[in-house]
Amino acid sequence: MKLVHTVVELEAALAPAREGGATIGLVPTMGAFHDGHLSLMRAARAGSQTLVVSLFVNPAQFGRTEDLSRYPRDEAHDAEMARAERVDILFAPAVEEVYPAGFDTWVDPGEIGASLEGMVRPAHFRGVATVCLKLFGLVRPDVAWFGRKDAQQLAVIRQMVRDLSLPIRIVACPTVRDADGLALSSRNAYLSAEDRAIARVLPRALEAGLAAHRAGTDAGEAARAVLQGQPGVRVDYAAVADLDGPTLAAAIRVGSTRLIDNVLLSDKEHP
Ligand code: PAJ
Repeated sequence: MKLVHTVVELEAALAPAREGGATIGLVPTMGAFHDGHLSLMRAARAGSQTLVVSLFVNPAQFGRTEDLSRYPRDEAHDAEMARAERVDILFAPAVEEVYPAGFDTWVDPGEIGASLEGMVRPAHFRGVATVCLKLFGLVRPDVAWFGRKDAQQLAVIRQMVRDLSLPIRIVACPTVRDADGLALSSRNAYLSAEDRAIARVLPRALEAGLAAHRAGTDAGEAARAVLQGQPGVRVDYAAVADLDGPTLAAAIRVGSTRLIDNVLLSDKEHP
């Protein structure tokens, strides 16, 4: 595996793949790898000849009061994990490589990015879409892999790829969960043992919402009822939206940690 930090190094590392016409795959990440990230890398490894993983904690997608400064970072450990997954190139740029002085073009995702997460984190998807477009331009992958854990992000990326006619196939991977149901997330590291026990209410609420939907009642209402019954939880939202298919999505705060999760309400996924 080549660990590269600059755009020039990335281009040099990719040159043989470009010359040989290899299928280039990309998994964009912010690091602090867990099994959710590794599941994307495994799917991507099987689906690409040259596999690039990007590791970049993107300041543009964090609000001013959010957790940018305390976001977990351990490049050396991440590099070990990526190597074990047979990643070809780990691209870990500094902020100036991605946003050089004078950078001033942004992708505005529109309606799909304005609801749910977009209501609570107004510039979030602008930052996500912009960095993903930038990474797509730098790596020029044939295929990019995203997790359903961030269903609205996936929908924003699919919309951008459609609207801007980007020659990239987007593949979605299922959410990886811990044995207690909690979706794996780099932010779970912030949870104390006590908070973690409380946070389990999130997947339980989504299960209750899915059961309500199957019984012909309101999924959002059922999920909100479960969340509101749990002391120590503040609910940002629990609502049904058409993301990558009809989806019940929720965001809660437990202590100072914000967690999101979702469940597809139909088996039918978008192509
Ligand atoms: P990050 O949170 O590091 O996630 C990177 C990828 O891993 C995303 O596609 C996310 O959906 C996926 N992922 C995270 N947890 C998962 C889980 N439990 N199961 C399956 N997949 C999971 O999402 C981002 O970074 C950033 O917004 C990024 C797209 C890299 C842009 O900066």
